[in-house]
Amino acid sequence: MQDTLKKRKYSNLAKSFHWGFVFLFIYGLIKQVQDIEQLEDPSLLRFEVLFASIFVLLLIARFIYMKSTQKTSLPENTPRLQKIAAKTVHYSMYFTLAAIPLSGMLIGLLFGIGLKDGFIIESVVTLHEILIDLIYILIGTHISAAIFHRIKRDGVWSSMVPFLRE
Ligand code: HEM
Ligand code: HEM
Repeated sequence: MQDTLKKRKYSNLAKSFHWGFVFLFIYGLIKQVQDIEQLEDPSLLRFEVLFASIFVLLLIARFIYMKSTQKTSLPENTPRLQKIAAKTVHYSMYFTLAAIPLSGMLIGLLFGIGLKDGFIIESVVTLHEILIDLIYILIGTHISAAIFHRIKRDGVWSSMVPFLRE
C-alpha cells in the first residue's frame, strides 16, 4: 500500500527522450516516401538515410539510458500479468521503432546498388509497411493503457505526461 502512495517520477532527460521521440516519429511519418520512384532523387535518398541513421542512434542512446537509470512507475503491487504486458509493449515499441528505419535503410541500400524493382526490394518495402502498421497498433495500445492509469490515478500517467495531471 505504501508503495502505491509513493509517487515515482521519470528524470527530465527521460521525459525529453520520450516526448522528443513522439515529435521525431510524427516528423518521420509526415515526410515519408510516398512512392519508391522518389528515391531517384539522390539528395532525397541521402536525406532519408541520414534521418533514419540519426533516429536509430538516438533510439539506442535512449534505450541504454532508460534501462540503466530509470524504473517503471507501475506500483509494486500491480498484478504480474499486467507488469509483463507493459514490458512486452515497451520492448516491442523499441524493437519496431528500430526496425522501421533499419528496413528503410535497407530499401535505400538496395535502391542505391540498382535493385530498383523486383521481388527482393518489394519484399523489404512490404516488411517496412507491416512494421509501420504494427507500431500504430502498439502506440494505440500504449496510449489506451496510459489513459487507463490516468483514470486509476495511480501516478503512472503523471510520472511521464506533463498535461491533465492527477
Ligand atoms: C510515438 C508515441 C509513443 C511511444 C513510441 C512511446 C513509448 C514509450 C516507452 C518505450 C515507454 C517506456 C519508458 C521508456 O523506455 O521510455 C513509455 C512510457 C510511458 N508513456 Fe509513452 N510512448 C508514446 C506516446 C505516449 C503518449 C501519447 C502518452 C500519453 C498520452 C504516453 C504515456 C506514457 C506513460 C504514462 C509512460 C510511463 C509508463 C510506466 O512508467 O510504466 N506515451 N512510452
Ligand atoms: C524513421 C524512418 C522512417 C519512417 C518513420 C518511415 C515511414 C514510412 C511510412 C509511414 C510509409 C508509408 C507506409 C504505408 O503507406 O503503409 C513508408 C513507406 C516507404 N518508405 Fe519509409 N520510413 C522511414 C525510413 C525510410 C527510409 C530510410 C527509406 C529509404 C531510403 C524509406 C523508404 C520507403 C518506401 C520506398 C516506402 C513505400 C512507398 C510506396 O508506397 O511506394 N523509408 N515509410
